[in-house]
Amino acid sequence: MQWWIWPENFPMTTDAIQEEVLALQQELTDHSYRYHVLDDPVIDDETYDKKLRRLIELETQYPQLQTPDSPTLRVGAPPLKDFKTAEHTLPMLSLDNAFSDDEIMAFHQRVIKSLETEDILYTVEPKLDGVAVELTYEGGLLTLATTRGDGRTGEVITENIRTIGQIPLKLNQEKMAAPNRIEVRGEIIIKTPDFEVLNRHRTENGENAFANPRNAAAGSLRQLDSKITASRPLCIFAYGIGAVEGMRFTSQSQILETLGSFGFPVNGYVQKGVDIQNVLKVYQHYQELRPDLDYEIDGTVIKVDEIRFQQALGEKTKSPRWAIAYKFPAMEKTTTITDILVQVGRTGTLTPVAVLEPVNIGGVMVSRATLHNEDEIRRKDIRIGDRVMVTRAGDVIPKVVKVVSELRQGNETIFEMPVSCPVCGSQVRRMDDEAAIKCINAACPAQIKERIRHFVSKKALDVDGLGKKLVEQLVDIGLVKTFADLFLLEQEKLAELERMGDKSAANLIDALTTARSVDLNRFVFALGIDHTGENAGRLLAGTYENLEGLMAASAEDLAGIHGLGEKTATAIASFFSNPENQRLVADLEAAGVRISNPLYAKQETKDHPFSGKTIVLTGTLSRLTRSEAKTILLGLGAKVTGSVSAKTDFLVAGEAAGSKMKKAGDLGVEVLDESGFLSLLGEDFG
Ligand code: IVH
Repeated sequence: MQWWIWPENFPMTTDAIQEEVLALQQELTDHSYRYHVLDDPVIDDETYDKKLRRLIELETQYPQLQTPDSPTLRVGAPPLKDFKTAEHTLPMLSLDNAFSDDEIMAFHQRVIKSLETEDILYTVEPKLDGVAVELTYEGGLLTLATTRGDGRTGEVITENIRTIGQIPLKLNQEKMAAPNRIEVRGEIIIKTPDFEVLNRHRTENGENAFANPRNAAAGSLRQLDSKITASRPLCIFAYGIGAVEGMRFTSQSQILETLGSFGFPVNGYVQKGVDIQNVLKVYQHYQELRPDLDYEIDGTVIKVDEIRFQQALGEKTKSPRWAIAYKFPAMEKTTTITDILVQVGRTGTLTPVAVLEPVNIGGVMVSRATLHNEDEIRRKDIRIGDRVMVTRAGDVIPKVVKVVSELRQGNETIFEMPVSCPVCGSQVRRMDDEAAIKCINAACPAQIKERIRHFVSKKALDVDGLGKKLVEQLVDIGLVKTFADLFLLEQEKLAELERMGDKSAANLIDALTTARSVDLNRFVFALGIDHTGENAGRLLAGTYENLEGLMAASAEDLAGIHGLGEKTATAIASFFSNPENQRLVADLEAAGVRISNPLYAKQETKDHPFSGKTIVLTGTLSRLTRSEAKTILLGLGAKVTGSVSAKTDFLVAGEAAGSKMKKAGDLGVEVLDESGFLSLLGEDFG
């Protein structure tokens, strides 16, 4: 808005109002960056919302004060009728794919030959599995955002992009002034934990679940109503540029650094200045990292670092000659459903499971895939005999993505859920508000077996030597019906069982003795209450000092715990108000089970150098994984965050630590290498 054409219908503002609006805009922009990019908020959500509402109120009253980078633009604009399209200044190319070290070496040879030098360094980046976008900034302000489309022309999604908290509406120019015009390219993704929550909510509301995070991100970006996009947990990693006016770049590494300084998230695992031998090592490293990442990657992108080399190499119609994607082995394969079985879970839920013609997916043979429930089978129209696409992501159980309907023969058979429990023959019932069909017999042997298996599993009581087969045997011969029965097992009787001997029996008794002392969070998880996972167990142990307190809590008390869902709160309260379950707990205590809560005990113990400190972990540690380190630190009362900021006390830098090292250096944050970290941890680690 230019001041000399003053629209008559805009009310006049006072200096005080202008100042308040400006201050709120700046403050909210800063908080948004800290929250979304630095992962280090300094105010709570409620205070943020209150300030945002005040700003919306003022800008609605005085529209001339709404600047193009105002954080109020992030809440979504009125719906569009259709998407406009826009041509990309420079085509958005795709990448050639390689699947072996040999193909990468061949690529490297082509580069050497064309450039007539062997002195070539690469930038190596994770290949993010999301949706490519191009964001145009003019005078530092976001003016246009488009999808990749067919590479030449994309759809205009500016309003949707504005709702993504991580994307700057105005480039941060503290370190460097913005060029007149710059097109920033990057990948929009949804992190896996956010994706799971999103899908859970969708299924609860009767909406179709998204097949994978990439589809969820694409669907969220292609919304005519940007308020819907605003409600989706979208993130971005910037990885490149299109056309630029008023700034010169000499290397891909410099581009990434600049994008970081402009306020974009840039992937922390990027490796700069890598020679070809190390390119292959980074690929291996990413593959190892992959299951621990909270977003999906499907390979490695290898880019010649120097721009003058890139220009000399040039590009083909669809892909550049200076970059290549080294893909991970496919995690999606086609196979045949030979049968559909029905399993009965610990809460009685009947789950249809596809029996597959075995297929190797990413190095693991897959022969079963869950079909979730009857509605899912109907929705995907899955039939016995169908050719189907199956995926396996990380350590998640394989699932059927879709039927390859073009390959249907006509002799596939439609599957019907059974009308009685396939294990105990009892009645089954479909719960009103759920897609699940349940066996209503709590004494159903299938349910007992699953409950016991869950109770002794690694994340619950962690009883060594009590595998699936043994649990089945113990339940089948009637030695174990309840949790407490486990602790009443006698070594002599165990030793007489098939496939057991004196040694295994003695070991199991030992393991059960150890398991008698259990932490409250694990115990709550072990009980197998509906909707109550590990995380709920931790939240409850953080709130209640002991089991008695938790058992006495009402559904309302529980619903007040931040992060605990309403369904979980209701399920827990109803579980503990059931006299049978109260007896179950009493029997366990009578059998010698002792439940303690280290979260409360810790506060009384002596201080640890990491207690109360904010710590960032980066790179690869050799003695323990990052997630193990995180668990130990949380147990010591430290806060573990994702990115380095002025509030960070220590950066723990393992092997191949990346950009976080530099940032820690800039901010004067103390950096610990692995041995420094372990010796401060003390005890067995030093
Ligand atoms: S660079 C010409 N870098 O992969 C350079 N792309 O197959 C092409 N992608 O459309 C883009 N991570 O959606 C680049 N670190 C990364 C990437 C990346 C994922 C996607 C992007 C692109 C596709 C090309």
